[in-house]
Amino acid sequence: MPETLRISDLNHHFGQLHVLKNLDISVEAGEFVSIVGPSGSGKSTLFRLVGGLLRPTSGGIEINGADAIGKRGLIGYMPQQPALMPWRTIESNVVLAREIAGNADKSLAREWLGRVGLEGFARAYPHELSGGMQQRVAFLRALISDQELLCLDEPFSALDAMTRSEMHRWLLDIWEANRRSVLFVTHNIEEALLLSDTVYAFSHRPATVLEKITVPFDRPRRADVVDDPGFVKLRRRLTDLLTGNPS
Ligand SMILES: Nc1ncnc2c1ncn2[C@@H]1O[C@H](COP(=O)(O)OP(=O)(O)OP(=O)(O)O)[C@@H](O)[C@H]1O
Ligand SMILES: [Mg+2]
Repeated sequence: MPETLRISDLNHHFGQLHVLKNLDISVEAGEFVSIVGPSGSGKSTLFRLVGGLLRPTSGGIEINGADAIGKRGLIGYMPQQPALMPWRTIESNVVLAREIAGNADKSLAREWLGRVGLEGFARAYPHELSGGMQQRVAFLRALISDQELLCLDEPFSALDAMTRSEMHRWLLDIWEANRRSVLFVTHNIEEALLLSDTVYAFSHRPATVLEKITVPFDRPRRADVVDDPGFVKLRRRLTDLLTGNPS
């Protein structure tokens, strides 16, 4: 079976600005892969390339073994800004991707809204929701898009620590029950280690892969894995890498 996503020797420039440099990244079927890296290193740019919204300067992007450069509609994508359509109700926003694919049934949206604590908001409009609630809606929209590869760009950044850890539990439960391939961007090292099979650490711009780390902990992951000495060691390693303190 081909990898769900294979990025090879990828480079991207905006004019003179070299943003992504010689990136090699892969996501196996059912694998949860995170990217952690400094602000401005090019993580969102990478997602726009994978989603076909931009074309790279050079290099390859394959989804399920087929060339995906410049091709839209192949991934479930949650952009960094929730980008909900203000004139559509919450349930209509959630089903947007499915609707474009020809399936306007909102019952699935209502079912999922309940599971993320948004029951009662199906008929509300985005401006009636908090930032964190809007993020959850955008997350659901990507999740139920039916694409095998989900690209999530800092999906939990607007959530407080408590809601964030509830969302981790929730995401792990969904993902462990129904393995999708996930590419996940975060600034949060602990979040990356808690959720992922593999973590890529990006350098400052132009972003290169500083290190690819395999996260060895069993699934289903327990919340107390963060206290495991192996976890603490990996957290230290990633912190050192990202603060330019290589040991
Ligand atoms: N459309 C664009 N045109 C020109 N430059 C751009 C464009 N989009 C992004 N950039 C530049 O590319 C670099 C990477 O931006 P990007 O948004 O990918 O970073 P990021 O890693 O996602 O940062 P953050 O963690 O803050 O979200 C930045 O210097 C940004 O100014
Ligand atoms: Mg970004």
